[in-house]
Amino acid sequence: MKVNGTHHRPIWESEGPQGPEVRIIDQTRLPFAFETMALPSEAEAVRAIADMLVRGAPLIGATAAYGLALAMREDPSDANLSAAYDRLFRSRPTAVNLRWAIDDVAARLRPLAPAEREAAAFARARAIAEEDVELCRMIGVHGLPLIEEIAARKGRVNILTHCNAGWLATCDWGTATSPIYQAFDKGLDVHVWVDETRPRNQGGFLTAWELGQHGVPHTVVVDNAGGHLMQRGDVDICFVGTDRTTREGDVCNKIGTYLKALAAKDCSVPFYVCLPSPTIDWTVRDGLSEIPIEERRPEEVTEVQGLGPEGVRTVRVVAPGSPAANPAFDVTPARLVTGLVTERGVAEASEAGLLALYPERKAA
Ligand code: MRU
Repeated sequence: MKVNGTHHRPIWESEGPQGPEVRIIDQTRLPFAFETMALPSEAEAVRAIADMLVRGAPLIGATAAYGLALAMREDPSDANLSAAYDRLFRSRPTAVNLRWAIDDVAARLRPLAPAEREAAAFARARAIAEEDVELCRMIGVHGLPLIEEIAARKGRVNILTHCNAGWLATCDWGTATSPIYQAFDKGLDVHVWVDETRPRNQGGFLTAWELGQHGVPHTVVVDNAGGHLMQRGDVDICFVGTDRTTREGDVCNKIGTYLKALAAKDCSVPFYVCLPSPTIDWTVRDGLSEIPIEERRPEEVTEVQGLGPEGVRTVRVVAPGSPAANPAFDVTPARLVTGLVTERGVAEASEAGLLALYPERKAA
């Protein structure tokens, strides 16, 4: 989508002296600085994922695929393929797109001779990124009628979103934002309530920035405001993303998503989760007991980053000495989800609903 009026993606290739060079936007610098950088090695790809220079389930998957390609440039042996797979696998635990992407790339590389692996890995990583762009575009195609239906009834459509499931979290379009961008581009009157999304502020920092770059009207609210807005009738529909959705339609997403879904249920506000199919973990049924929830550093809770007159600073916002816990994701049970917006259409959040769209998964 757009950065300063020009089309940009969060991961791309440029020509380097050794072949394709992988480049990313350093998302830890947004919204205060727009900086791009190369990922010169698999170790840097692991660091970029772990330290959240890139984040969001689909983008984590694409970056990990490129990470394996960079590993094959460094050493295409069987031993390094396994070791790089393990290092990438451990870089972040919750988004299943990571495992999906490196499983896919590694399965294609193992039968090849080492000399063929670098080119094959780059080709597949490139294809994964391109496929994600199309999957996300199609999520927008299927989500757009949900917005159009509300617009036809009442004109302005107020949408609430949580965290950043925007183009910065994918290879383009975003998941939750794809229907929003397509509605806006079509001239519909949309307005987005952007949950700030503490502790890392992906809403206030990233979603607000990208909506602003595209010109989409939006307002940032603190995480606790959503229920109040819904009670007042100020939210027509919720669109969120997911890091892992189970076979039975439970949805794991950024911490706080569950509370928004509870409020939406109480207020009869439709609550839609937008996802490309690589985010479905067909091996998992019960989200609460089977999905690993990432626990991040307590400093993300006790400190915040902000822009002051002297530049970007980090300040402590918790009483000195008080401990903090930082679970990064929660699980919203399928019963609270109105529908799953996928690249193939809108599914009921249930095994039957998902299998109706993905019949090839029946036996899995
Ligand atoms: O910790 P993050 O920033 O990687 O979390 C991102 C989210 O929770 C997104 O909602 C999710 O990955 C879906 S991205 C299209």
